[in-house]
Amino acid sequence: MDIKRVGMLTGGGDCPGLNPVIRGAVQTLHNQGVEVYGLMEGWRGALEGDYTVLTPENTSHIVSLGGTILGSSRTNPFKHEEDEGPVDQVIETMSNLGLDALIAIGGDDTLGVANKLHQRRGFKTVGVPKTIDNDLSCTDVTFGFDTSVNTVVESVEKLRTTAESHRRVMVVETMGRHAGWIAYYSGVAVGADYILIPEREADFDHLCKTLQEKRDNGQKYAIVVVSEGAKLSSTESAYITKHHEVDDFGHIALGGLGDIVAEIIEKRLDWETRSVILGHLQRGGSPSAFDRILGTRMGIHAARLVLDGQWGKMVAAKGNEIVGVSMAEAVGTMRTVSDNIINEIGEFYQ
Ligand code: F6P
Repeated sequence: MDIKRVGMLTGGGDCPGLNPVIRGAVQTLHNQGVEVYGLMEGWRGALEGDYTVLTPENTSHIVSLGGTILGSSRTNPFKHEEDEGPVDQVIETMSNLGLDALIAIGGDDTLGVANKLHQRRGFKTVGVPKTIDNDLSCTDVTFGFDTSVNTVVESVEKLRTTAESHRRVMVVETMGRHAGWIAYYSGVAVGADYILIPEREADFDHLCKTLQEKRDNGQKYAIVVVSEGAKLSSTESAYITKHHEVDDFGHIALGGLGDIVAEIIEKRLDWETRSVILGHLQRGGSPSAFDRILGTRMGIHAARLVLDGQWGKMVAAKGNEIVGVSMAEAVGTMRTVSDNIINEIGEFYQ
């Protein structure tokens, strides 16, 4: 069947680089005479038939814009596995809008829905991996991650001067959910005095010993980077009292671990400590050049997968190339920071 009209949506947490993807895909499809409908706010737009027509004209200047011109949400049509009503509604909406296929741009959750729609209902879907967390399998990197790391680095450089003036420890909490990529990469880039990530259980004896040694050697301040999902031992976990909400995909809202870590450091070392939760700053702003290029290339290749009828595929970065991989393989397995990468930088944290 000829593809005449394609839907496109962005779902889950937004990230810098989504608009370059949209622009790249729209231009490539337009070049082959294919119309593109942008579905608003992720799967919500797919459920309710809320859309906007995307053209090269109205997407030509969005490459430098952060966020997504389509809006996003964490709506999940498969929220209640036993109730296929919302899924039927999505299929019906696609048909009413005359959409022959769908490009879903999202993380594990959004692509999981796209994959189920393809596998269970035979709907023609193609995926594009996005997330600042960089935790998707089958791709070397996701766009949004680079911008996010740069935001953390800029922020820490600002925090460094005040930490030094006040001779304090500054604990900086980053996003990343249960993968430590953002904390690890930004921690390395700022030469953090300690980094806590979910991939290794936190050892507070070692953390405090390391900071104390630096202090004894004349260091006046310290920077500790903590991933929001860092793994604390059961004793320290008792500190976690914050109420965590759960979203449509069953994820708990993280955030606040930096405060706990700061409290532990201050108590144990009697060293004045402050904590800063960078939060959504890490998802905001204009995409870095790297993310603009990666996003543009992934958008072009997603459109090509559509034009080639490669359903159930996701675009992925492999070395310098953008390739198509199985979406089913990519979803469901989180990609965490490897032991090799952790061990390299372990040289600084003996
Ligand atoms: O998955 C991206 C992400 O930014 C995570 O790093 C973070 O835990 C979560 O989304 C925050 O989600 P929300 O925007 O719903 O608060």
